[in-house]
Amino acid sequence: MSAQAKKRALSGIQPTGAPHIGNYFGAMRQFVDMQDEFDLYVFVAEYHAMTTVQDPAVLRSNIENLILDYLAIGLDPEKVTLYRQSDVPELTELTWMFNCLVTVPWLERAHAFKDKSDKGIEPSVGLFDYPVLMAADILLPDSQVVPVGKDQVQHVEMAREVARKFNNTYGDTFAEPEEHVVESVAVVPGTDGQKMSKSYGNTIPLFGSDDEIKKAIMAIVTDSKSPEEPKDPSSCNVFALHTLITPEPQLSEIKKGYEEGGLGYGESKKMLLENYLAFIAPMRERRAYYESNPGIVRQILDQGAGTIQKIAKEKMKEVREKVGL
Ligand code: ADP
Ligand code: TRP
Repeated sequence: MSAQAKKRALSGIQPTGAPHIGNYFGAMRQFVDMQDEFDLYVFVAEYHAMTTVQDPAVLRSNIENLILDYLAIGLDPEKVTLYRQSDVPELTELTWMFNCLVTVPWLERAHAFKDKSDKGIEPSVGLFDYPVLMAADILLPDSQVVPVGKDQVQHVEMAREVARKFNNTYGDTFAEPEEHVVESVAVVPGTDGQKMSKSYGNTIPLFGSDDEIKKAIMAIVTDSKSPEEPKDPSSCNVFALHTLITPEPQLSEIKKGYEEGGLGYGESKKMLLENYLAFIAPMRERRAYYESNPGIVRQILDQGAGTIQKIAKEKMKEVREKVGL
């Protein structure tokens, strides 16, 4: 299939801290799975991260790490356009144009903003405007498909509404994007059983040290059934993670050990740890390679920036004309 015939897919992740396995199974892995079938764009959402990270050294290091993580999980720079959001300043111009079309009550419906203001946090204008910047990310390159975790679906819907509003006002300009959620792993549970999230401190870091990963896995909350008692795998957080990581036929054996009794939670966690370390071994190797070859990483980003900048410049020329500038 030629590049033109492929659907364009795009997604990004905020560099707000070390990615966890919820980020990986909920979003990042899909990027890798999509890189052959789609014309794929993956970026570092650093403008978005500025709504929460205001320490320049921390932001810079998070950005560098996320780029290494993208390459480590197997995104192939030959197939994917990998770039940094701040290499496309046109996004902020487009955000302004969209800001002039959307209303305050419409933005007040966004979950991220509502959650924060319900908690009594006084939101910055940037946080309030977060979905509009995300709409610009998606619409500027006319993305058709947006792979995200379940919690981001509302933002993609909002991007679709922005496209419609712009197209109704100024004539057909932007493609209407669709979200792409892998339902089987829509929400990865954290070590406490809530949704795994950086903000809940219940994460298993994707590329933590062996010790960090071990500590997190051993801390997964379970009930207090003894090894001999039969257990329900579908209500066990350890088993939920096994379904993502442990290959067959071992997975079926573990399921049987739960249902019939005989497999304790401690043992189940040990197997999970072992399987997880085996699972990430090739990714760690790739990460180490790119970490020790910063010149190659820079080249990849320069190439990505060049590709997206060309698209952005052409599209903004059309948009400026349409709005009357
Ligand atoms: P966090 O909640 O840890 O701050 P982000 O909001 O930065 O994570 O999410 C980045 C991406 O990872 C999004 O596409 C999001 O939907 C996905 N994601 C985050 N946590 C999970 C989870 N526990 N299960 C599935 N997907 C997740
Ligand atoms: N809001 C997304 C998140 O927190 C990150 C993001 C920013 C994004 N712009 C995007 C995702 C555009 C998909 C498409 O995970």
